[in-house]
Amino acid sequence: MLGPMEFRDVVRRRRMIRRYDDRPVDRAVVDRALAHATHAPSAGFSQGWGFLVLDEPADLDRFWAATVDPGEEPDAWLRGMRTAPVLIVPCSSKAAYLARYAEQDKGWTDRDEARWPVPFWHLDTAMAALLILLTAVDEGLGGCFFGIPPERVAAVKHTFDIPVTFDPIGAITLGHRVPDPGTPGSAATRPRKDPAEVVHRGRWTH
Ligand SMILES: Cc1cc2nc3c(=O)[nH]c(=O)nc-3n(C[C@H](O)[C@H](O)[C@H](O)COP(=O)(O)O)c2cc1C
Repeated sequence: MLGPMEFRDVVRRRRMIRRYDDRPVDRAVVDRALAHATHAPSAGFSQGWGFLVLDEPADLDRFWAATVDPGEEPDAWLRGMRTAPVLIVPCSSKAAYLARYAEQDKGWTDRDEARWPVPFWHLDTAMAALLILLTAVDEGLGGCFFGIPPERVAAVKHTFDIPVTFDPIGAITLGHRVPDPGTPGSAATRPRKDPAEVVHRGRWTH
């Protein structure tokens, strides 16, 4: 890649990559991705997010041990994902939002969760996660956001001392992409929807 990438190319090139080669990732690149994450918008500028960064082999092993059944034979997905030299666990804090919106300028002192049209804590952290994924592409890396099985979340929190007030919204693998991007995800069997199918101008059209 010569020179900086156009934003539109970054967006279009972003695909989830599920296998990486053994080149290490420059720490400065990870730091840039994390700095970009903190530029995500957040409701009330709550910034109720936290990012667990794992880039030591032993820590990565602990993550996979916490999320995978020990008796389970690793499938192609897991073998590919385990090649990632860096893993980031974006966490959201509902408590931070309830506290922020109980402040005087917002005034939701009852901290009633029914006030929230959608869980802004997850929404904002997901926006931050997207900035990490886009930064990876901009830096010539690949990444994949994936869900942590609900029954494994407690083990992840316990293993890495994540406070009770923070919850992982998923995890992101990062690394240098290989020509073979690893196990294809759902995008291999489903076409991307055309904007005409999903955009409704003026009123919802069926
Ligand atoms: C909230 C969320 C959860 C996802 N969970 C997984 C997952 O558990 N495993 C996986 O391989 N991909 C996961 N993906 C990636 C999607 O499969 C992928 O984004 C989709 O198929 C579109 O492909 P693309 O991102 O390469 O364009 C997830 C994506 C999102 C946004």
